[in-house]
Amino acid sequence: MMEETARAKLNLALHVRGREPDGYHRIETIFAFCTDGDLLRVAAGEDLGLELVGPFAAGLAAEHDNLVLRAARALAERHAPGRGARLTLDKRLPVASGIGGGSADAAAALRLLDRWWGLDLGEAGLLDIARGLGADVPACLLSRPTRGTGRGDVLEEIEDAPFRGLPALLVNPRVAVSTPAVFRAWDGVDRGPLPGDVRDGRNDLQPAAIAVAPIVADCLRLLGERFGATLVRMSGSGATCFALFDNEVDRDRAAAKMAEERPGWWRLATRLA
Ligand code: C5P
Repeated sequence: MMEETARAKLNLALHVRGREPDGYHRIETIFAFCTDGDLLRVAAGEDLGLELVGPFAAGLAAEHDNLVLRAARALAERHAPGRGARLTLDKRLPVASGIGGGSADAAAALRLLDRWWGLDLGEAGLLDIARGLGADVPACLLSRPTRGTGRGDVLEEIEDAPFRGLPALLVNPRVAVSTPAVFRAWDGVDRGPLPGDVRDGRNDLQPAAIAVAPIVADCLRLLGERFGATLVRMSGSGATCFALFDNEVDRDRAAAKMAEERPGWWRLATRLA
């Protein structure tokens, strides 16, 4: 048995610069990853199989086109024909929530099966397959602070990122939003490139996500009111919002207050990796 964490992804800033004819958007984003996430395990199996467990397993069917199985199949086809594996995905993060989800799980599957099957392709060797699985999968493959351009899949690692290790609180108001729907609701206005300091950036999809799911505005407002956050923003296409803190005491106080006022919402107190 081997296991791999599919770290939760955050877009500390996400600037939408334009819409391409194929419907995709040109973005500039800063990817950061949390020390917590979904957990993917592998054991010996005749063919490729996937079992879903954990608090958010019900939100995903272990259906044919699950991104984890697609990743496993793509890797086997190219580099390990005929090999099997029994995968178990412990789904701890909410589905369709702007923090990686399927992309992080697929990237974890590539890393895990690369080890399990002894392929030794490494990040560089897995990158091409990752790109074919979705715009965020290459960044999730690295799971380290990275600047993304293009569709978010042209990557430049950020050495000595100033936000590494910071305590973070993730909050989801329990609403699943569709990424294509949020991108479609973007108003088409290019508001300019990423600044030097991520705190001065934006998530240009916030107004679009609020139009699709108005509760996101409430989530941002409550997080912003909590004492001590140095940055409050929505991640990806939402609806998960995050707050960064200088210390764990402030983060845990904010988490406790959130639990009191919105007991039904999902929360994760974590750190940036
Ligand atoms: O690549 P992925 O399958 O993760 O993207 C999901 C959807 O998100 C796309 O079909 C597209 O509608 C939208 N998207 C976009 N521009 C990006 C990334 C994703 O419009 N840069």
